[in-house]
Amino acid sequence: METVLPSLIDKYNRYLNYLRISITDRCNLRCLYCMPRDGLAKLRHEDILTYEEILRLATIAVNLGVNKIRLTGGEPLIRKGLFQLLPTLANLPGLKDISMTTNGIYLKENLDKIKAAGMKRINISLDTLHRERYRKITGYDGFEKVWDGIRSAEKLGLNPIKINMVVMQGINDDEIVDFARLSLDHPYHIRFIEYMPGGFADQGTQLHHVPNSAVKEQIIRLGKLVRVLNTEIDGPTDRFRLQGAPGEIGFISPLTHHFCQVCNRLRLTASGHLRPCLLSDREIDLKTPMRAGASDNDLAQIFLKAADNKPRAHGLVSEHCGSLSGQMSAIGG
Ligand code: 5AD
Ligand code: SF4
Repeated sequence: METVLPSLIDKYNRYLNYLRISITDRCNLRCLYCMPRDGLAKLRHEDILTYEEILRLATIAVNLGVNKIRLTGGEPLIRKGLFQLLPTLANLPGLKDISMTTNGIYLKENLDKIKAAGMKRINISLDTLHRERYRKITGYDGFEKVWDGIRSAEKLGLNPIKINMVVMQGINDDEIVDFARLSLDHPYHIRFIEYMPGGFADQGTQLHHVPNSAVKEQIIRLGKLVRVLNTEIDGPTDRFRLQGAPGEIGFISPLTHHFCQVCNRLRLTASGHLRPCLLSDREIDLKTPMRAGASDNDLAQIFLKAADNKPRAHGLVSEHCGSLSGQMSAIGG
């Protein structure tokens, strides 16, 4: 008789069907909100999961009901050998959706391989449409490369192409309307993300978020925002479309809206720990038991334990607890 494994359902009845896998903590950029300019201590090579290990853990997760996987970093496209892993990962039976978040610097040259591996969706981090400002935000003069990558992805038919803009007061909030306008001319999904304070990047920088309610007020000057219904795989994005636009507008508001009740995510860090909540320090080690010979079933039990440990809500908006602690580039955003 076939054994039916339990699914990843947490104490609050959230079905955790979405696993974000950070495949490297390294990044070629130093975005203001993520990393200090001189970088962060890097994990040692041997402390990073191998592709075989990632594949094994992903298979266990999919057997437990995960049907959506996103590869993140650091910057996933800088890890060598990624395209040996991708097709096998993309073809895991039961997986409905595989996607990647990239900063887009190496997007153009990898597009054919991304498409051939079965990846249809891609998220690109882009916080400004001005070359010099891009250099200031990321520490690298790469705007043209990213933009070229986005246009090439569109030509190749990747869909949707999501563009993530982290809105920071006084830094790029004068570009909100320009970003929204992109959705009128291109089929892009523009997502406005509230900057989350804390973490390592904050030291020395004084960044402030802009509430998405204020972002929305600016956008409605362009036209009526029509709500787009969320699907099972959308997670916390609040989706809209400017009337008649080929693209979409989305709002991700970790600060001003508690979206924890619909959070369907687990994160696997580059160092092989499960992190049930981005905004809680608690991590559960999978790598050590795996390297000590744990069976698939033992590892599945650890996944179930992590699901059980997913907090009900984060405390970003409360004064008592919760800010972004830990290294975003190793957790994967
Ligand atoms: N606040 C909000 N979003 C962040 N990201 C990284 N750090 C932060 C932060 N402090 C997200 C951005 C970026 C992706 C890689 O991670 O959306 O595009
Ligand atoms: Fe920027 Fe992403 Fe790299 Fe962080 S990991 S520095 S957000 S590109």
